[in-house]
Amino acid sequence: MEDRAITSTLSLSSQSALPEEDKSMLQILGGHSLSGEVSISGAKNSALVIMAGALLCSGDCRLRNVPSLIDVRRMGEILSALGVKLERQGNVLDINASQFEVTKAPYELVSQLRASFFIVGPMLARLGVARVPLPGGCAIGARPVDLHVRGLQAMGADVQIEHGTVHAHIKGGKKRLQGARIYLDCPSVGATETLMMAATLAEGETILENAAQEPEVTDLANFCRSMGANIQGAGTNTIVISGVPQLHSTDYPIIPDRIEAGTFLVAGAITRSEISLFPIVPDHLTAVVAKLKEIGVKVVLEAPDRMRVIPTQQHRATDIETMPFPGFPTDMQAQFMALLTLSDGNSIITETVFENRLRHVAELNRMGADIRVKGNIAIVRGVPLLSGAPVVATDLRASAALVLAGLAANGTTTIQGLHHLDRGYDNLEGKLKGLGAKLERIKGDSTEAIALLSPAPVG
Ligand code: EPU
Repeated sequence: MEDRAITSTLSLSSQSALPEEDKSMLQILGGHSLSGEVSISGAKNSALVIMAGALLCSGDCRLRNVPSLIDVRRMGEILSALGVKLERQGNVLDINASQFEVTKAPYELVSQLRASFFIVGPMLARLGVARVPLPGGCAIGARPVDLHVRGLQAMGADVQIEHGTVHAHIKGGKKRLQGARIYLDCPSVGATETLMMAATLAEGETILENAAQEPEVTDLANFCRSMGANIQGAGTNTIVISGVPQLHSTDYPIIPDRIEAGTFLVAGAITRSEISLFPIVPDHLTAVVAKLKEIGVKVVLEAPDRMRVIPTQQHRATDIETMPFPGFPTDMQAQFMALLTLSDGNSIITETVFENRLRHVAELNRMGADIRVKGNIAIVRGVPLLSGAPVVATDLRASAALVLAGLAANGTTTIQGLHHLDRGYDNLEGKLKGLGAKLERIKGDSTEAIALLSPAPVG
């Protein structure tokens, strides 16, 4: 066991020796159609929170279908720094938190990954104390954690923020957090997950009202239940958790990534190509499929876990407003914007979840799109074609949108800022190549990239 732990710590840290600001670029030769089948990886946002959830249990947790992503590696490094043993083989990740005793998360690691704040709930529930640096804002918004903090306070924690770190401990010399009735001002995914994890080991019943209903919340609940937690109502807006004294070992498969699946559905639509996706959970894609149908794209369920996208030659405009699940996901807004730039008519896209998630507009406009922004609203006027251009990815989903635009554009698109893409898409280039896309990752600065440009293909 000891040897195994050393191996895993070494392998995790050596994997993470990736350049922070990766200088490589993705060069895409647009205008080629795609075909075939693509396999969808495990959900990033489930994997990250479930890894944190593994801190709740002192036995072995085996996670299956774990995607290969920089964010997952970073979460692994954070857990290692807390004394947790991890070993990864392919998409199976074994986590053993029996030696988890460290109550302070290291700033250098936490600051690289917002999702690292998820450890605060399990740390407090298991050790009675937690010191976790605030994650800070990011490219898409300020992203406060006030709802996480207020919920933990309601459960009997003393929480102070000093010098940029959240210091929390269970009040009154008690060993366990206390169940509470907590109303969330907005259905925050992260706050619901933090409080659900904390409540699994609390004394008594916790009721989370106006809880997030995202599939990743349900996945976390199912993971905790597989360890013996008592959770009812996950997937609705009221979740009831009856605390238990401890949780046990588990072997748990992570759900397929609905945002990766949605991105490939748009890849089919924007390149006018038929693509089959497997595995998927249709209920997780309802809003995305509804919008695709509205603009004229057919989506067929070939099997309960397999979907085929069948595009038409001309798409219609539509309006989109991002909403918490089951509404249209903010994580698909940028990719749909790329699609709507090439659809007939005017589309209005309203981003309601994050305050700064329209930064891809300027980059899409560089490629010939016609988009104007007013506050949190983007007005997209459909154009007949996009033209390849050098562009910069500003965040994870923005980078996916640029890849999609590049696949459809006339000529070559060169995308910088790939560290965003690598954070959250498992082998996107390999999967697109498997479908016939013409794209290559190249090293060096933009001068080298431009020298490599090939003549624009037609069709
Ligand atoms: N909010 C608060 N206070 C809080 C928590 C949230 O005001 O204490 C606000 C946020 O600022 C935001 C809104 O509530 O305006 C929604 O935030 P939420 O907490 O739901 O989002 P999150 O937990 O920070 C997760 C995903 C995001 C995804 C959102 C919404 C993870 C690791 N991240 O973030 O994923 O966009 O839910 O579905 O689960 C991505 O994958 O690209 C991504 C950004």
